[in-house]
Amino acid sequence: MRIAAFRRAHFNAAHRLFNPDWSDEKNREVFGPCSNPNYHGHNYELEVKVVGEVDPETGYLIDLKTLKDLIKEQIEDRFDHKNLNLDTEEFANLNPTAEHICHVIWTILRKHLDERYELVVRLYETPRNYVEYPA
Ligand code: NI
Repeated sequence: MRIAAFRRAHFNAAHRLFNPDWSDEKNREVFGPCSNPNYHGHNYELEVKVVGEVDPETGYLIDLKTLKDLIKEQIEDRFDHKNLNLDTEEFANLNPTAEHICHVIWTILRKHLDERYELVVRLYETPRNYVEYPA
């Protein structure tokens, strides 16, 4: 039986959207207040979806405690209460848009998740704005 399991998580982080190849003016034009040089914060909501076959011996798709710990150790501990631009190596040279953050999270989790699972990551930057990878 094929099924999907979900785990939600949360982290707060600051960022600045900025393309170093552009002038401050063009950055302001394109990114608006998200390019504020003094940074601003978001309450990011993360939704991790794992898809696969239920193990007939356990009746589980995945032990949700394992998934919870993985997200905590690999994502929340890494990004929560951080300035993404300044405090993380992932975004030292990558514009921390929701799109990029979502893809980075997927890449990190993918490395730690058994190959038999499909993985989808959804990231809410605001309650109404969110992205999902893979599309
Ligand atoms: Ni922003």
